[in-house]
Amino acid sequence: MNRKKTLAVFISGGGTNLQAIIDACESGGLPASIGIVISNRSDAYGLKRAEAHHIEALVSNDDEEINGILQEKAVDLIILAGYLKVIGEPLLSNYKDRIINIHPSLIPAFSGKGYYGIKVHQAVLDRGVQITGATTHLVNAELDEGRILKQEALRVAEIDTAESLQQRVLEIEHRILIETIQDMIGGI
Ligand code: GRF
Repeated sequence: MNRKKTLAVFISGGGTNLQAIIDACESGGLPASIGIVISNRSDAYGLKRAEAHHIEALVSNDDEEINGILQEKAVDLIILAGYLKVIGEPLLSNYKDRIINIHPSLIPAFSGKGYYGIKVHQAVLDRGVQITGATTHLVNAELDEGRILKQEALRVAEIDTAESLQQRVLEIEHRILIETIQDMIGGI
């Protein structure tokens, strides 16, 4: 029996993807626990989600400090769940092929610089594409460029607004993020 894996979840906002990971760990759906939540913003609502589940959190913009606590917690896998900062060294080297990101489009469409949050879904509507979805991928030095791990599509509805589309894509995100983590921790 493999030991339970330790996750670090990085957030900058509301944390619904973090909540999906918390729920999956608590229900036994993920043989893992969250060792630390990292945020670059002290006002991220996701921090309240961590607190409500007695999960330790650190607010920091210092990659060396963050790296230190990840080593201290013996973190196996990093998940970027709405983290709006680029990951640099030493994390990229220390966690090569062990950092996952969730993006709210079918990469490479609507990804890269400037495509985050509700802006992604507004761009989808403005372009008039009929299919969008979500992607999980490994993180490297280039924004949204790492190896794609999982994608799931949905059809854009005539009545969709950026907000309604965001909510429908988030449902996909929560599901494929857990599936991706399950696949990854099986392999560590
Ligand atoms: C999600 O749409 C995710 O794909 C993107 O940022 C958003 C975070 O949402 N990277 P939440 O904070 O997990 O609710």
